[in-house]
Amino acid sequence: MSDAPLPQPPAQPVPGRTAARTAAVIPAAGRGVRLGPGAPKALRTLGGTPMLIHAVRAMADSRAVSLVVVVAPPEGAAEVRTLLDAHALPERTEFVVVPGGETRQESVKLGLDALPPGYDIVLVHDAARPLVPVDTVDAVVEAVRDGAPAVVPALPLADTVKQVEPAIAPGEPEPVVATPDRSLLRAVQTPQGFDRDTLVRAHETVTGDVTDDASMIERLGAAVVTVPGHEEAFKVTRPLDLVLAEAVLARRRLNDGF
Ligand code: C5P
Repeated sequence: MSDAPLPQPPAQPVPGRTAARTAAVIPAAGRGVRLGPGAPKALRTLGGTPMLIHAVRAMADSRAVSLVVVVAPPEGAAEVRTLLDAHALPERTEFVVVPGGETRQESVKLGLDALPPGYDIVLVHDAARPLVPVDTVDAVVEAVRDGAPAVVPALPLADTVKQVEPAIAPGEPEPVVATPDRSLLRAVQTPQGFDRDTLVRAHETVTGDVTDDASMIERLGAAVVTVPGHEEAFKVTRPLDLVLAEAVLARRRLNDGF
């Protein structure tokens, strides 16, 4: 007998979800300490435009998205509103700005609290991933519409990954305890897409540190599936990521002919 997994039937569309309206929540309240000193990360510029505006456009460019909630640095909500007014954004999309919290999780929760009724699908997208292509956004929405309660864009890993016993002092050698099978691992990106009720329940019931929203859904015991991610959806975290982001933008401008 073969050990190959049995083929699974495709997820059944949930009645009503195929026509569901989609909102995007963009947590942008982080300080971006790893990027070095300066303005909050989301307000730093790429190609002369704040990273946050790129991220907002990336969501608003999807025809599925009709509302974008920006979760601003707590002291910077007014500045973010001014920024949104100063940049050309699709007119069919509505924008709301709310102040963020101490942690990413808190910031996402504050964004969810600001969602009006009538949006059954929610995307959560890091402001720190300004260059995600619209096709990736659409693929995530499509998979939620097709019935998945939680969807993450994911890529295979280029590097081998080691599990270690973390050193007490930074820079000390760390004992390696395991090498997980790389073929079973994926690096996940945003936007992550959710059935709104499931995401709200996760934020109301799951406590403890998490680094993404999908892991809260996993803790609820609900299904999370992947769709193919995109290498341009990388997170701008360290100074070298800024160099890469500028290069991607320059290539896009060349290709678009302006
Ligand atoms: O810190 P990390 O890179 O994981 O942050 C991911 C996203 O979460 C960023 O867009 C950041 O602005 C946001 N964030 C937030 N509120 C915090 C911390 C991070 O909105 N308190």
